Amino acid sequence: MEIVLADKAGFCFGVKRAINTAFEAAAKGNVYCLGPLIHNPQEVERLRKAGVKTVEDFSSLQPGEYLIIRSHGVPPQVLEQARAKGLQIIDLTCPFVGKAQRDAEALSREGYQVVVVGEKQHPEVQSILGYAGQNALVIETADDVENNTFQPRLGVVAQTTQSYGNFSEIVLKLLRLSKELKVFNTICNSTKERQDSAHALAGQVDVMLVVGGRNSANTSRLVSVCRSEGKPTYHIEVADEIRPEWFAGVSRVGVTAGASTPDWVLEGVLEKLKSGKVGT
Ligand code: F3S
Repeated sequence: MEIVLADKAGFCFGVKRAINTAFEAAAKGNVYCLGPLIHNPQEVERLRKAGVKTVEDFSSLQPGEYLIIRSHGVPPQVLEQARAKGLQIIDLTCPFVGKAQRDAEALSREGYQVVVVGEKQHPEVQSILGYAGQNALVIETADDVENNTFQPRLGVVAQTTQSYGNFSEIVLKLLRLSKELKVFNTICNSTKERQDSAHALAGQVDVMLVVGGRNSANTSRLVSVCRSEGKPTYHIEVADEIRPEWFAGVSRVGVTAGASTPDWVLEGVLEKLKSGKVGT
């Protein structure tokens, strides 16, 4: 069985930067991360062992302790509260997420109703919303557009991991409903590169494996992209989940990984596939 790895797979710039800085910061002691640093439980566990503990809120932290803001960012009010408490902030908000936050803020200041295209509950979307003004809305799908009412002047930004297909479908619908529409394309290039690469590979293989956290939006998006190509696609977090029955009659298997999937996890999957002992 031939195993083909997507050209673009695994850690993106923002996640690599966050992970490296967090491991360096661990040596300071008393380092806490607000929510899991990345959507990959295996890497979060490695960080925990290095001394970076995950907290869901910072109410129990003491002045002087370190608080990591992960690549998804946080609403400005959260930053203010953490600073007011005397915490030392290590802000690892990805610069591309920061750009989406600033674009949303500028649109709101210019009087547009801000529409964030993304997943309502995703922390990155929540962080952008914090900059987007009182009347901002989150739209997940083109169907959602029908269920909302909009002001005549609309400003649009995207969650950085959105697919271009979904973003453009929503923008087109909003165009028909608005008198004025200002759109910032805040989709991250790393996301697009991984999606394009996964899509191209899915067209050339019999089966696709997508490696990454089940709670990772960009990994789940890669799964949808591969399935849209009509290929059987399996989402796994680690090599042990690989099942031999997936490969019956398969001569080429494609592998890709989300932007928050560490190299060591991806390498584990490739090794297992190459060993021929899949599922054992
Ligand atoms: Fe940043 Fe793009 Fe990665 S927004 S965290 S470089 S997917």
